[in-house]
Amino acid sequence: MASFQLDISHRPRRLRRNPAVRSLVEETRLRPADFIAPLFVVDGNGAPEPIDSMPGVSRFNVADLVKECRALAKLGVPAVALFPKLDKKFKNDAGTAALDEDALILRAVRAVKKALPGLVVMTDIALDPYTTHGHDGVLTADGSDVANDATVEILTRMAVLHSQAGVDFVAPSDMMDGRIGAIRSALDAAGRTETAIMAYSAKFASAYYGPFRDAVGSAAAAGTRSLDKRTYQLNPANRREALTEVALDEAEGADILMVKPAGAYLDIIREVREATRRPVAAYQVSGEYAQIQAAARLGWLDLERTRHESLLAIKRAGADMILTYFAKEMAAQLS
Ligand code: PBG
Repeated sequence: MASFQLDISHRPRRLRRNPAVRSLVEETRLRPADFIAPLFVVDGNGAPEPIDSMPGVSRFNVADLVKECRALAKLGVPAVALFPKLDKKFKNDAGTAALDEDALILRAVRAVKKALPGLVVMTDIALDPYTTHGHDGVLTADGSDVANDATVEILTRMAVLHSQAGVDFVAPSDMMDGRIGAIRSALDAAGRTETAIMAYSAKFASAYYGPFRDAVGSAAAAGTRSLDKRTYQLNPANRREALTEVALDEAEGADILMVKPAGAYLDIIREVREATRRPVAAYQVSGEYAQIQAAARLGWLDLERTRHESLLAIKRAGADMILTYFAKEMAAQLS
């Protein structure tokens, strides 16, 4: 008896028959050069400080930070994004330590650039590590909101300091209006025309930032991890508004446009990719990392496969580069 045979001309499974065929038709591939590694730095000479809510991530002193950067560079990761965790005594309402000439972040940048001039170094431009209330800027007179223009004025000076310390990119993550144009002008006026801007353009007011706020201590300072940043960060419900923000940052001179978080915002990444010719970055944030780590620890998900798939999806959605706490392990796995 002849076995049953469908009369169909299309059999897509022909292209999935074995690893060699699958490799030929593979549309998206991750490589170490796709990643930017976010790293946390602390003062002093202490041992690395593990962050409980981000298993596998530690804050490093400056010397260990340089070592970590060297290891990343060796694995082919082209860029790092540095975040300082400051002692309480450096925090106040106005975040004035952000403009210290000897700030931890500036010392960290100088050390990394001296040891590894070819590694791309980026720093966050926002006041949250420096303020007691944990907001990204200074507050209005009645304390009810973050003051836009006063904050931008401080950020422009912060950006110039970071540029003079040697960063390749400043990365304003504050979501104030007009900050990209103001920072570009301030950099240019200071002769820092080569310093680029990676704009946190579509940054949503997300619950996924919780572990990061433990890492930089903004949660401890504010007494809560669920800081309400909804007067400046985007409403997760809004797509068109995100595209408006991206268009503004592009027009104001951003060199790279970022979407953040990444995994829950793949539609936004795709739309931004199609709306601009500029490079698009996506930030797989602390909570996305923590979710995967937590499930893997419970034995509920396979760590290597899940992290790979999560990052592949972000690239497939249209990200040209990805900030991820998995950068080092992924680069090691891929090479
Ligand atoms: C703050 C900042 C945040 C992150 C990067 N810069 C948190 C926030 O807006 O409260 C989040 C990164 C992460 O969760 O991994 N300027």
